Parts: sequence; C-alpha cells; structure tokens
Amino acid sequence: MTRAKIPDQGRETEELLAEMASFEEGDANWRSGRTWSLVYHAGEEHSALLKRAHALYASTNALNPIAFKSLKRMESEVVEMSAELMNGAPGVVGTMSSGGTESILLACMAARERAGVRRPEIVAPKTIHVAFEKAAHYFGIKLRLAPIGRDMRADVRAMKRLMNRNTVLVAASAPQYPHGVIDPIEDLAAIAKKRGIPFHTDACVGGFMLPWIEKLGNDVPKWDFRVPGVTSISADIHKYGYAAKGASVVLYRDMSYLRHQFFVSTNWPGGIYASPSMAGTRPGGAISAAWAAMMSMGEDGYMELASKALEATKRLRAGIDAIPGLRVLGDPPLTILAYASADPDVDIYAVADQLEASGWSFDRDQNPAAIHCTVNANQLEFVDEYLTDVRCAVAEVKAHPELIGQGSAPMYGMMARLPLRSVVRKSVLDVMEGLYGSKGSIDLNDLGAGEDSGLLMRAARRYGGRVLGLLNHLDARRRR
Ligand SMILES: Cc1ncc(COP(=O)(O)O)c(C=O)c1O
Repeated sequence: MTRAKIPDQGRETEELLAEMASFEEGDANWRSGRTWSLVYHAGEEHSALLKRAHALYASTNALNPIAFKSLKRMESEVVEMSAELMNGAPGVVGTMSSGGTESILLACMAARERAGVRRPEIVAPKTIHVAFEKAAHYFGIKLRLAPIGRDMRADVRAMKRLMNRNTVLVAASAPQYPHGVIDPIEDLAAIAKKRGIPFHTDACVGGFMLPWIEKLGNDVPKWDFRVPGVTSISADIHKYGYAAKGASVVLYRDMSYLRHQFFVSTNWPGGIYASPSMAGTRPGGAISAAWAAMMSMGEDGYMELASKALEATKRLRAGIDAIPGLRVLGDPPLTILAYASADPDVDIYAVADQLEASGWSFDRDQNPAAIHCTVNANQLEFVDEYLTDVRCAVAEVKAHPELIGQGSAPMYGMMARLPLRSVVRKSVLDVMEGLYGSKGSIDLNDLGAGEDSGLLMRAARRYGGRVLGLLNHLDARRRR
C-alpha cells in the first residue's frame, strides 16, 4: 500500500473535484433519505446556498473579532436569534462553537470555573449525551449519573439524591439522543435553583426543532429560558437549524456565567491572547453558513420542515407499533425515536443487519438494544418503504435464528452486554488504533471482521450468536 504524499505538481481543479466527488460512492446515502442519523438535510437548493455562504468566508478567522467585524456581527446575530427563539430575555448571552460537544464542554468548564470548588461534580441522567463524560474526563470533573425511569426520562428523585456541595452543574436533555424523550426539566431546574446550582439544558438536537413543534400547536414541556432555574442551553444549528457542519450555540442566562468560558493569557510572547471558545482559529465559513441558514429558512421554512418531519415520525412510530415483535421505547414527542425487540426470537441487531443490507443507515442503541432513527422532512416519502423493509427484516430474523450469529449482530450484542466494560473499551481502542494507524490495517467495509479488529470482536463473531441467543431467552424468562 503506497503512502499518500503531496503531488510533485499541483493538479487541475476540475479533475480534482471530479475525483473527490467519486470518493462519495461508498458513503451513507443521505441525499436519498435512507440515512436516519448524522445528516440533517433541507434539500438541494438550501445546500447550494450553504455552500456559497460558507465559501464567502471560508478563509476568514473569528478568533479576532476586530479584524473580522463581519464575523462578529454574524455570530452575535446568530446568538441573538437563538436566544430569542429559546425565550431568553435581552440579557441572555453566548457564543457559537464548532458543535454540540464543544458547546457542552464549554458549559461544563465554565460551571467548574464559576464554582471554584476543589472536587467539582456534575449530576445528570445516564442518558445525557456522552459529551458530558468527555467534559468530565477532560476537566477533572466527577460525573454522577442517575438512573432513568421506565419512560426513559430522568428520575428526578434519584438526581436530587446525587446533588451535594460539590455539584457545580445539573444537566438534562430536551430531548435526549438515545430515545428522543424530554427529561423533566422544570422539576430538575427548580431543585437546582433552590440549591443555588446552575442548570444546563442540552437542547443540541431539540433547540431548533422544539420551538417549531410548539408553534405548530403541540404540547411541549418547558425546557428553555422560560424555566426559571435554567442557566445555560446548548443548541446545534448544524442539526435541525440546517446549517453547514461546525455550528452550535452555547447560551447563558447572563454574563456572570459566560465570563467563565473565556480564556485569557497575558504573558505569551505572541501577544495578549483572548479566546471565547475551545478553538484557536475559529472558521468563518461555519459562522456565515449558519447565519445564512437561519436567514434563508425563516420561521416559515423551519415550520414547514418541522411539520413534515413530525408527520414522518408519527407514521414511522405507528408503523413500528403495528409490527409484532417490536416496541418503541418511551413516548418520544418529536422527531427522534428508538425501537427495540419485544420478542425473544427477534434479535434487534440482527434486524439492524438486514436493514443495513437493504441500504439504510442508522445508529444502534445499547441497554436496551435498539435501532435509532433521527427523522428529517425528506424522509416523509420514504417511511412506507422503510416500514416494509423493517417488516421483512423481522420476518427474516424470525425465520432464520442463525442470523443472530452472523454479520455484525453478535459483535454489537456482545459489546453491549459484556459486564467487563474494560475489555470492551480495550477492544474499541484496538479498532481506533486500526482506523487511525497506518493506512489499510482495517477495512472500513468489514469493520469488526478483520484480523486487527480486536480480540473481543473476533470472539464475538465466533461465539456471540450462541451467547446472545441464551441471554435473550434468559431475559424473556425474567420478564415473564
Ligand atoms: C442531545 C445531544 N447533545 C449533544 C450532541 C453532540 O453534538 P455534536 O455531535 O455536534 O458534538 C448530540 C449529538 O447528536 C445530541 O443529540
């Protein structure tokens, strides 16, 4: 395998672009509506606008707002529009960041700085986005995760029990990613407020969807700045805000919270340095494309897409509920849902393999094992086709119990259920090394099957089917 190298002579623009376009061939088929994750697509016309808006400022850098007043203006307006949408008073402030994870990292770090306690802790339900675990890992914070109820929402009493003098932040989601349900934000924020603890609503996926669903006349529990105890919110414009990737906002009730997010160095030989977020260089294109997305979409555009996505989700949910052997988890009120097996003879990861073979892309949840769908407006016309494939997949899995031991099902099943999490972690690290090591040590088309894909994954492929079959039946007996 030859190693990539900068060509001796620069290549022709058109030839290069054509070659790059061909790289896309093996990618998830997101334009066609067969991808239930990762991409939020508002149509080709909107994509074309994003590209042009991004290109206008692609080389600019928002690290210096004085040098790029244009970017400062657009970032401020994006923050203001977001704060207004989330019912923030004029004192609500914030910044843009590169995405949900960065917004969450910033909110956690600012809460830690503000509190100034020696052993900082954050309390959240176990369904909170993994970016909180990352923040805890990066910033030396202890993350205390509370159990959830049968409805998959945060258990308020369990969360309350975990709060103490070291708690620098309480957090919950609107909605959480794994099952698309909204945590009881009002109750949790009230408890946090009473104890003088800041409260963060992670609305990364819901921030630019929930307001439209509410405006469409649906009942939506309160989660934004209307809730008195909510002190910060993360919301991603690159999700249902339909911006180009790399755009999120982190908002705070007032400057007394935001100021702890800023980084200032006064002694560096390169000069006095001040930066509002994690990144040094802050890509102007992400800011300009986010501004353009909001301006061109307008309330009417967002409402139309929200209404279609909601309709698609309702149909999807009704269709899944009607398939014997499957059940939707919780009562997801918006455009994200997950469905699991309700029959020991239906291994959901084996169903997932069948669906993937039919060209659908999606995420797999664990504990409980489930198939995850993030629904976009452009999927309205594909829901029936998808449901037909789900029905076929379930029938196939029931008719062929040996499928539980084939494809990726045993690997996902074992990875989710093995009690020795350190072994799972080591195995995943092996895969990461394979992915980011020298080219070719892992074949992306056959992840988990290759010789270098980790001992656990190889064991899962060999024995996983039998182990999972047994575990499924034990589960079923326990439920009876
Ligand atoms: C609820 C929630 N929070 C945070 C994130 C992290 O966002 P990102 O992937 O942009 O870092 C996600 C991503 O799906 C999410 O659903």
